[in-house]
Amino acid sequence: AGGALAGCGETTETAGIVLPSAAPLPPRFRVPLPIPATKKPARTVHGVDEYEVTQRIGDAEILPGKTTKVWGFDGTFPGPTFEARAGHEMRVRIRNELPQPTSTHLHGGITAPASDGYPTDLVVPVGGSFDTHRKHSGEMPMTVRPQDWTLHQGSKEYRYPLGQRAATLWYHDHRMDFSAPQVWRGLVGMFVVRDDEDDALPLPKGDREIPLLICDRSFTADGSFSYPSLDPSLTMTPGVRSKYMQGVQGDVILVNGAPWPELSVAPVRYRFRILNASNARRYELALDPGGHLVQVGSDQGLLAAPRTHSSIVLSPAERFDVVVDFSAYRPGSTVTLVNRLGSGAAGQVMRFRIGGRATDDSHVPARLSQVETLKRSQAKVTRQFDFRRTDNGWTINKQYFSPSTVLARPALNSVELWRFTSDFHHPVHTHLAHFQVLSRDGHEPAATDHGWKDVVDLRPYEVVEVLVRFTGFRGRYMLHCHNLEHEDMAMMANFQVV
Ligand code: C2O
Ligand code: CU
Repeated sequence: AGGALAGCGETTETAGIVLPSAAPLPPRFRVPLPIPATKKPARTVHGVDEYEVTQRIGDAEILPGKTTKVWGFDGTFPGPTFEARAGHEMRVRIRNELPQPTSTHLHGGITAPASDGYPTDLVVPVGGSFDTHRKHSGEMPMTVRPQDWTLHQGSKEYRYPLGQRAATLWYHDHRMDFSAPQVWRGLVGMFVVRDDEDDALPLPKGDREIPLLICDRSFTADGSFSYPSLDPSLTMTPGVRSKYMQGVQGDVILVNGAPWPELSVAPVRYRFRILNASNARRYELALDPGGHLVQVGSDQGLLAAPRTHSSIVLSPAERFDVVVDFSAYRPGSTVTLVNRLGSGAAGQVMRFRIGGRATDDSHVPARLSQVETLKRSQAKVTRQFDFRRTDNGWTINKQYFSPSTVLARPALNSVELWRFTSDFHHPVHTHLAHFQVLSRDGHEPAATDHGWKDVVDLRPYEVVEVLVRFTGFRGRYMLHCHNLEHEDMAMMANFQVV
């Protein structure tokens, strides 16, 4: 098993096994950073923008000279970027022309349960069918009864009221048992919410505001995506499953779908909206040769004041909104965005090439936003969620996910203290509700834990306390681990907002 386990260190920074590509690794810093297209509404009806998206198989050239079949929103990987306005409702009709059912979740969105992309709320492919009586997955320990499925034939309209502040959200597949392979195949995109407060700040704008969707993939010799359940030589037998149970990591680092790209920049400030869209890989991003990442926002929008970091750790699904000032570097030189947690080529992410003079009227103001700080005393209820492995899967409070089991019933508009404990790296994500990190292992939150968040990087044997506020809607939502292999192996739970 040695070869297949390449890169499998037993350190606590390892959140999965690196699946080596059979294809040669592409050269680094040769392709320009692609910017995903902005999605345009099909029509506007009574002030509501209506969008139409088709999930289909598309061709992408990710490795030079090779074609990769992707499962994409509009056939692209990443999918198009949505530009949304806080307070302006948006409706997105998703038509499924893929071979398998899907469920689309707007990660970080405050939506009604019917539009949340619940794992058993499926869009069945156009012309396809779905047997609610079949065992949904051969090996997983979860129980799903026939009545737990909701089926939409061919397409479904998702409604996003966007009663929330400006933030970098994203959208991705959330199908029961298959989120990991379906996201790996390409079902992911960015979703930017803007508001007047964010617009009014003198931060870099226009083509100096750039999304960086970072993820890792592995490839077969012909350029197809390689994944334990996609690659015929690696069927998901119990043995393979237990090997990849910690999570699947690729050995090729992609930014906006391109391997180790390069971006030409002027020697001025840029704003980067960074998303870790990887299944399992954690990154510690830093600039080489040195420099600052000035954080202006977290998962859920602007911080009260900027925070300067020499590196930032991103667990899967976390977002960081940072400003980098390239005037600190010599024109003509290059600056590499490195990943201190990666070995070999995975230790690098992308490169910036510094161009000649340009003017810059942007700056990072000392005050960014009015952000209320939640206090421990506001929480009337405390709950604990323990994230732990078993022989067959991953559990929350000793339970495998079941659509009909509810672990918590928080009241609408209340604040609760949730205490997360773990045996491994688990990026914990709450749907609907946003939170603030209160403490980490009895100490102050980490430097990168600040602001409103919807994912927290829970590390092995840590105790992380968060203050969660439930707003917007009543109904059934979930919290889960955002390591997508853990998620597919049952590490999800329901809460019901009452
Ligand atoms: Cu980004 Cu339930 O997930
Ligand atoms: Cu996990």
